[in-house]
Amino acid sequence: MKASIVRGYGQPFEIADIDIATPIGREVLVDVRASGLCHSDELAATHPLGYEPPMVLGHEVAGVVIGVGPDVSEVKIGDHIVGCLVQYCGTCKRCLAGKVTLCSNPSYTERSVDQPPRLSENGQPVAQGMALGGFAQQILVHENQVAVVPNEIPWPQAALLGCGVVTGAGAVLNTANVQPSDAVVIIGTGGVGLNALNGAITAGAATIIAIDIADEKLERAKKFGATHVINSAKEDPVAAVLRITGVGADSVFDFVGLGPVTQQALQMVAPGGGLYLIGVLDPTATLTVSPVELLSMKRRVEGVYMGGTSAKRDIPLYANLYLQGRFELDALVSSEISLADVQDGYASLKNPEIARVVVTDLS
Ligand SMILES: NC(=O)c1ccc[n+]([C@@H]2O[C@H](COP(=O)([O-])OP(=O)(O)OC[C@H]3O[C@@H](n4cnc5c(N)ncnc54)[C@H](O)[C@@H]3O)[C@@H](O)[C@H]2O)c1
Ligand SMILES: [Zn+2]
Ligand SMILES: [Zn+2]
Repeated sequence: MKASIVRGYGQPFEIADIDIATPIGREVLVDVRASGLCHSDELAATHPLGYEPPMVLGHEVAGVVIGVGPDVSEVKIGDHIVGCLVQYCGTCKRCLAGKVTLCSNPSYTERSVDQPPRLSENGQPVAQGMALGGFAQQILVHENQVAVVPNEIPWPQAALLGCGVVTGAGAVLNTANVQPSDAVVIIGTGGVGLNALNGAITAGAATIIAIDIADEKLERAKKFGATHVINSAKEDPVAAVLRITGVGADSVFDFVGLGPVTQQALQMVAPGGGLYLIGVLDPTATLTVSPVELLSMKRRVEGVYMGGTSAKRDIPLYANLYLQGRFELDALVSSEISLADVQDGYASLKNPEIARVVVTDLS
């Protein structure tokens, strides 16, 4: 099958003809119909994040089940599914408590070293990014990493559910548990931040403040339902948030992850409120926190991984809200490209008019 492969950190995505194994155990073979370009894969293509090249990345993926291993019980051939990078065993203490993003045995969804690799090229193993490898015509994944969605949801919108949507909306709904009377701040209204906006709308948050440095992004945020927008390149965002809210925001979500941005974000948090860290634009960024200030203001600072999602619950939930017209996904799909154009697609994400790019031509 055709896949978009990365042969070395910093080398371009290029088309290769690779082999995919047949399903064993609880594995599911999926014919890919759409695969979104998430920033985390661009990071994984250029920095060692746990996968050794050659590797197939891509983790916002949707498609049709075309094969199942003998022990699969949760999906069947013909199901429309969305993949999710959250790997979990389903039987450890944390999984049993419903906290699958904290699973203590995430490699459970991978093949072991003594089994033949899922992906190979000329007999040599090819790494499968996030145990998905979605930039390919097919994926072979553990059934724990797929959620079944209604057939009516279009493919590109479905693909986005797997990462950008669960991460953004989940931070608001699962982690911060935003309430209707709350004021929330969303910093960085890109592909993931816009889904925090979707989450804040779903929660009914009274005040939704979007902050970005690009007016085009803020215009889009307004269309998604932001009640206030702030261009932090033009005005002091801390002063603006305090002016709008009086005391600061109950929840501040940082989808950027640059030291100075996160430092400002902390100052926007109301007494008793929380700062939620999601963005990793600068993986070396640090945050200076005064414990005394933190305790006197009764503030929380929390890192959020994948929106604390339980994908098999959340992905069908957001898909159904979308189909009911209550969750905006259409405006996230800015362009559809072919598998051969992943490299150019990542370059196009620098254009502020673009929210998300999705591979839908897998021929
Ligand atoms: N924690 C997780 O589990 C998780 C999961 C998925 C993605 N991510 C990370 O979330 C982040 C957001 O992803 P995305 O796909 O939405 O990226 P994106 O590029 O689409 O969005 C980032 C936004 O931040 C804005 N921005 C950049 N610098 C800014 C600044 N100084 N001040 C204010 N806004 C600024 C950009 O204009 C853009 O709108 C990335 O770092 C990604 O790697 C984290
Ligand atoms: Zn992602
Ligand atoms: Zn587990």
